[in-house]
Amino acid sequence: MELLSYLHPLLLFLLLHGFGFLVLLRRTRSSFTTSKFPPSPPRLPIIGNLHQLIGPLPHRTLRAMAARHGPLMLLQLGQVPSLVVSSVDMAREVMKNQDHHFASRPSLTVPNILLRHGRDVAFAPYGEYWRQLKKVSLLHLLSAKMVRSFRHVREEEVAAMIDDISRVCSSAAPFDVTAILNSLAKHVISRVTLGKNSKDESWGDYIDSIMGEASAAMGAFHVGDYFPSLPWLSKVTGLESRIKKMVHGIEVILDEIIANHKNRARGDDNPETKDFVNILISLQDDPEMKQFISDETIKSVVTDMYAAGMDSTHIAIEWAMAELMRNPKAMKKLQDEVRGAKANSEQMITEDDLSNMDYLRAVIKESMRLHPPGPLLVPRELTEETTIEGFRIPKGTRTFINVWAIGRDSKIWKDPEEFRPERFLGSSIDYRGQHFELTPFGAGRRICPGIGFAAAVVELSVANLVNQFDWKLPNGMKEEDMDMGEVFGITMRKKTGLQLVATPRF
Ligand code: HEM
Repeated sequence: MELLSYLHPLLLFLLLHGFGFLVLLRRTRSSFTTSKFPPSPPRLPIIGNLHQLIGPLPHRTLRAMAARHGPLMLLQLGQVPSLVVSSVDMAREVMKNQDHHFASRPSLTVPNILLRHGRDVAFAPYGEYWRQLKKVSLLHLLSAKMVRSFRHVREEEVAAMIDDISRVCSSAAPFDVTAILNSLAKHVISRVTLGKNSKDESWGDYIDSIMGEASAAMGAFHVGDYFPSLPWLSKVTGLESRIKKMVHGIEVILDEIIANHKNRARGDDNPETKDFVNILISLQDDPEMKQFISDETIKSVVTDMYAAGMDSTHIAIEWAMAELMRNPKAMKKLQDEVRGAKANSEQMITEDDLSNMDYLRAVIKESMRLHPPGPLLVPRELTEETTIEGFRIPKGTRTFINVWAIGRDSKIWKDPEEFRPERFLGSSIDYRGQHFELTPFGAGRRICPGIGFAAAVVELSVANLVNQFDWKLPNGMKEEDMDMGEVFGITMRKKTGLQLVATPRF
């Protein structure tokens, strides 16, 4: 968010440049609306609607704007026409009916440097290279079979987290639950991607902090991304050199890890010992795949997965725990379900125990409805001009899907601001990309390939947290006084970390 501080002076400069001292609000409808483009709010010269996005919570600002201008709204963000989608029907249109047009990603400064101009999955432009890498992610890295093969990693790391909490909670003082969840996510993702737990390695703290920084930089607003014809903007802000330094840091570590993996024998077929790096290395021997998987690709894909898997997973667990603390009845109902799952409830909940826990899954869906970790998903780019509902959408339009707004739309959800997991009991609505009212993982071609992996970590963690401990708010705080404020980014965190008191049951 430090980068936001560059924004105001730069916007000011752009505004004044070429327009003297007068900044005139154009009250007339923009040229877009007169030619059957989707409705647009009035724009300022040069920056268009950019100033409307610089508040701390763009997903909320965009929802308020959509209430005035409609669920398909065309903004001019600097030089970039941008579509904001805010209803379930429009989300279905973009991510299903016209998904093939909206399946690319814009070229953005940070991913360009960090991920070597789209050599990863998440930011690769739509095309053959992305298609092959997505296939690799779905079939080789994150398939149901691979997710099952990482079960021991999840169970060991969740057990280690429970031990850590048991140690820190013995004083009955509040402790930082956010930090503990963050560590859990880092340990799981580093073992799965690199085959090593970052906490045991000399490079562990460094890579964790650099990946955290990288993920924050990817989520922050960079004015240069909205003025593609002024590439010097990301240089003058110092952004480019900062990211290049990060890339160098990540590269040194990943080069060494890749070399160590290559020195070990290839052809180890034991899925229990496989991690993403050695799976990708073995695909370098596959005649069909080898042209797509260079060492550069391995580094980019691993960076992608590490950053994507680390933040979003712990944020999802944190919001679920926060909502359970604010809603003691839901907490009690969940504890009853989880604690009834085993004859000896002292034992850790395993993944076998989760299959009958319908209320647990309802809690997680409800939490993701209210707090999708990516409130605007990852931006997409339209590859050819199209029309939606008779409105013309120009080629190259950047597209944001406000899943946060859709999750709180009173036309779809009864009492949308309330946390009521019961709404999902007996409902077929799921978050796997078929129900456009609930798409925290996106949908269509660009859907998150890590859903099964993320769901397994989130479910197992929440189940064990509520099974092993009774939880209280600190210092007599009341549920209604909890700070549920948000910090916007590519992932939306809780503004204040979750501080809780835990009492072990056993
Ligand atoms: C609760 C956890 C997670 C959430 C909420 C989440 C959410 C998302 C979202 C919203 C997208 C963009 C979808 C779109 O554009 O329609 C995405 C893409 C992606 N996610 Fe996740 N994700 C999570 C966990 C993970 C994990 C654990 C991994 C891998 C280990 C992962 C890997 C990816 C990748 C590679 C993409 C890019 C897909 C593409 O562009 O084709 N995610 N995720």
